[in-house]
Amino acid sequence: MKHELCKIADVPKEGSIVVPFFGREVHVYRVGGAGLRAAANVCLHFGGPLECRDGTFVCSWHNASFDISSGDRIAGPAPKDSKIMFLSTRVEGDGLFYVWGE
Ligand code: FES
Repeated sequence: MKHELCKIADVPKEGSIVVPFFGREVHVYRVGGAGLRAAANVCLHFGGPLECRDGTFVCSWHNASFDISSGDRIAGPAPKDSKIMFLSTRVEGDGLFYVWGE
């Protein structure tokens, strides 16, 4: 399965772009220079939406925070060993694609 998330040119240098993903949302952003990453817009506490702020994702419901590079929980009520969910992706041409089972 392969599904285009967005055009690479649409990903901001800082922060993230939120794109639709089969009825849900995904943050797409840059890490460590030019690397791209896609993370489900879902908090590991009760599923609240995440805001991308200063290198972290912060949940707007109860303020859990997660590192955008590792996905690790930093603080808040999400389980201590929880991680945000990353999607498997591949760059092809001018787009970033979600890929599964290839
Ligand atoms: S749902 Fe995210 S901190 Fe509660």
